[in-house]
Amino acid sequence: MIRQDAFRLFVASRFIEPVEQAFTSTFSTRFAETREPLAELAGIGAEIDGVVFSLDVPMREAAIAALPASIRVLATYSVGTDHIDLDVARARGIAVFNTPGVLADSVAENAIFLMLGAARRGTEAIDLLRQRAWHGWNPAQLVGVQLAGRTLGILGMGDIGRRIAERARALGMKILYCNRRPLAPELALGAGFRPTVEALVRDVDVLVLACPATEQTRGIVNAELLGQARSGLILVNIARGDLVVDRALIDALQTDRVYAAGLDVFAGEPAIHPEYFDLKNVFMVPHIGSATLEARLGMGQILIDAILAWQRGEVVPNQVC
Ligand code: GLV
Repeated sequence: MIRQDAFRLFVASRFIEPVEQAFTSTFSTRFAETREPLAELAGIGAEIDGVVFSLDVPMREAAIAALPASIRVLATYSVGTDHIDLDVARARGIAVFNTPGVLADSVAENAIFLMLGAARRGTEAIDLLRQRAWHGWNPAQLVGVQLAGRTLGILGMGDIGRRIAERARALGMKILYCNRRPLAPELALGAGFRPTVEALVRDVDVLVLACPATEQTRGIVNAELLGQARSGLILVNIARGDLVVDRALIDALQTDRVYAAGLDVFAGEPAIHPEYFDLKNVFMVPHIGSATLEARLGMGQILIDAILAWQRGEVVPNQVC
């Protein structure tokens, strides 16, 4: 129900109940009634101050152009902002908020889950049981690789990357990373810096992609890069699907040049490249990195706090533009 005395929020995606309740009890909310929230918004004929949405409601140029003129805030329930045309939002004077930090532990845990699932042949192991085809333990069965003693490379050593490093260190892994610039020693915590992804991939057994998708990083995992990798690389992608050239990764998985992949995200998802389904050395989940109660509650709260702070004219730490 839209009241005139409070911030008028259009809720374009569906969220877990406590998050929707938190929006309702803080703001004057109106929920999308159809599966076309952007079309609804464009024709809404009501004053709306802001929109909360997620990756399922991309805010590209045309969508932003069609927003009611009253909209001053776009609050994305995600840390990634590649589904938003930030230049267009900025040009219209719209503030954009996202959800850094609160999901970092959950996403890092998911990276470790994918790394272990890939290293320990999780897909084959689960299939064997679920197909009721397991005839008992034998010493040659499902032999995978151990992570202890191996080297992990993290492409994108931000908040999430550093939390992956912390956890991987506890598994007995050595850590290297690639960022635009080396981190201060108190953030790097002994992880070795490599200035380029090529230099990184040559020295690691496991490569985790934890960087945003930008013009510079899209397609960064391609045939050329994989050709420079150590034989038997494990690739984990918890960032964005379009960092990887699927054809190149699938070829490398089919020839065992890449030992296994742990994938949470896919180019063009949910339309996953069909060949991934046939590769037993792919351990994959449907973009569940931040799908824990803790992260999802935190994501709702950080957006509420951001809107309230913005209304008070304060600096909002998670304001993207
Ligand atoms: C999920 O992918 C996010 O960007 O939060």
